[in-house]
Amino acid sequence: MNNKLIREIKTFLKEKISHKRYEHTMGVVKSAVNLAQKYDANVEDAKIAALLHDYAKDFSREELFSYAKKYDIVIDDIMKIAHELLHGKIAALIAEEKFNIKNKDILNAIEYHTTGRVNMSKLEKIIYLSDFIEEGRDYPGVDDLRKIANIDLDRAILQAFDNTIVYVLSIGKLLHPNTLNARNQILLYIKE
Ligand SMILES: [Fe+2]
Ligand SMILES: [Fe+2]
Repeated sequence: MNNKLIREIKTFLKEKISHKRYEHTMGVVKSAVNLAQKYDANVEDAKIAALLHDYAKDFSREELFSYAKKYDIVIDDIMKIAHELLHGKIAALIAEEKFNIKNKDILNAIEYHTTGRVNMSKLEKIIYLSDFIEEGRDYPGVDDLRKIANIDLDRAILQAFDNTIVYVLSIGKLLHPNTLNARNQILLYIKE
């Protein structure tokens, strides 16, 4: 059943997203499958969430806002300005509508891959992290993050949050409170 769904999603994506985005997506799938096996999460759920996580990544501000209107969702003040953060939420809504995905954990993993949030599930952490460490990524610190991801999921997610926060501040963009709250929570948890 899920294999058929996975094939359908792949065919759909090949038509709808750019080659570059598809390559990144397949990198995220590979990493998510590895992490799911390592940390004992559902591999098929990881595959589905990874496949759909960036479906709305290249949507324009207008497209994102028109989907938000269509699905009747409230856009928070940060996302009104940092509209690119909305692509997770919109992708989750489209995943539910187009592929009839009802599994809340998959939908949340898609939605929160842009900001993270407090109390992330294992699958949410795996997708968030895979987005940063997939094999196509190349930035200072990525190898360190890959190493930590192989040892400790929570420490890796903390490092990914820290990297994101430093980066967002360095380019003078708005930091979403979900990211800050998630980072503080995981830091306190690790220190306990
Ligand atoms: Fe994304
Ligand atoms: Fe991504």
